[in-house]
Amino acid sequence: MIIRFALNGEEKEIEAAPDRRVVDLLREDLGLTGTKEACGTGECGACTILVDGAARLSCLMLAIQLDRRSITTIEGVGSMEALHPVQEAFVEKGAVQCGFCTPGMVLASMDLLREHPAPTREEIRKGLAGNLCRCTGYQKIVDALEAAASHLAEKRGKP
Ligand code: FES
Ligand code: FES
Repeated sequence: MIIRFALNGEEKEIEAAPDRRVVDLLREDLGLTGTKEACGTGECGACTILVDGAARLSCLMLAIQLDRRSITTIEGVGSMEALHPVQEAFVEKGAVQCGFCTPGMVLASMDLLREHPAPTREEIRKGLAGNLCRCTGYQKIVDALEAAASHLAEKRGKP
């Protein structure tokens, strides 16, 4: 079937089997390998993308569910020249080690900060509970989210 959706701000029209997994469509058909797959069963958050701004697990989504939606993958967040404030905070606080969880963690963090612009540490822990990291011990990720929240608040305060 033909599926029409916005991908990182660009209109797309692609032919895909309606039951193709979104993680496969992104990585294999569209070459967007920033989206990772680890468990493949909805347990780890590595495959997180944003669908209309909300964090979703692309290993549990089917291509048909993309139709007429707006999708953001990590390739659509920031750039080498200008990182997104969440990415900047991850670097600043040392919240990236092997980096495998990082794309999903950044996208889930963006959704969390949209819902809770000034989250407590507890809200951060709960909000990212579905995103597993094998390396960092999580403290630095929580530190990064606190820093990102305050950077974003500063930005919003600017005229
Ligand atoms: S790969 Fe999708 S949740 Fe783990
Ligand atoms: S930085 Fe390695 S899994 Fe999170």
